[in-house]
Amino acid sequence: MSSASTRRQRRFLDQYGPWAVVTGASSGIGRALACRLADAGLNLVLVARDRPRLETLAANLIASHGVQVQVVAVDLAREDHLEAIRRVTDPLEVGLLVASAGFGSSGPFLESDITSETEMLMVNGRAVLQACHHFGRRLRERGRGGLVLLSSIAAFQGMPYAAHYAATKAYVQSLAEALQVELRGDGVAVLAAAPGPTHSGFAARAGMRMGAAMDPEAIAGPILAALGRQTTVLPGALSKLLSWSLVPLPRWARVSIMGTVMRGMAIH
Ligand SMILES: NC(=O)c1ccc[n+]([C@@H]2O[C@H](COP(=O)([O-])OP(=O)(O)OC[C@H]3O[C@@H](n4cnc5c(N)ncnc54)[C@H](OP(=O)(O)O)[C@@H]3O)[C@@H](O)[C@H]2O)c1
Repeated sequence: MSSASTRRQRRFLDQYGPWAVVTGASSGIGRALACRLADAGLNLVLVARDRPRLETLAANLIASHGVQVQVVAVDLAREDHLEAIRRVTDPLEVGLLVASAGFGSSGPFLESDITSETEMLMVNGRAVLQACHHFGRRLRERGRGGLVLLSSIAAFQGMPYAAHYAATKAYVQSLAEALQVELRGDGVAVLAAAPGPTHSGFAARAGMRMGAAMDPEAIAGPILAALGRQTTVLPGALSKLLSWSLVPLPRWARVSIMGTVMRGMAIH
């Protein structure tokens, strides 16, 4: 490793270490981000529901990187989920929150299962709100750190046939943009990461088929590289292509195009 990249790594560790909390670390983008953070030498608290997958990842990262890793197996839709996270994180010096846990659905809104959509609101919305408020206060007190929130290219306009999912991501995007301004004076960087289609467990859970899609490992690097430099990152060429091609159009036209695309992707 060159001395310039060693210095960059030291700065990253100093700003965002020694501990990072990663929600959604059992799969996909959250897992890839956790691996990248271990590469950078950060200790990790891995959060998701699937304890065996979290424990396997933890054991691998401890063995391969020599970092410390703790696991919180919790359903973020539960009202008391933050207590479970706090039991582990309160004694640790946390410098970074990565809020990647989330899921989507597809198909006509009125045919959706309202119990599952409400759970989505809790995971994609309430859990992000509560984590940002709790860890944001801790980072402000510390005078440095970061919040990385997983938005989506779906956040920038309404999306028929994934109407509620896109609305949850608009919430995340808006929250991140505003917090970036509020917290920058306190030394806390806030980043909205807005990927396009990415191979992960997302499509299967949302009942969608994905055509062209990116690999989580390929977008994890660009996401972390944008932290502290940008408010929003569209990681990877596909995210940029899909998002920028819609920018010149009026919002109603973007909504209409997204609806056509989503109708083609929905399995039901
Ligand atoms: N893949 C894409 O095309 C894409 C595009 C744009 C944005 N995103 C966003 O990227 C983020 C990560 O998605 P992904 O693509 O990595 O999907 P993924 O592979 O399905 O990962 C989702 C993660 O969220 C966790 N999770 C889901 N429900 C949870 C709950 N109730 N409680 C705790 N953890 C829960 C899952 O863990 P458990 O199942 O173990 O709980 C898993 O670790 C999401 O916020 C998604 O909206 C994805």
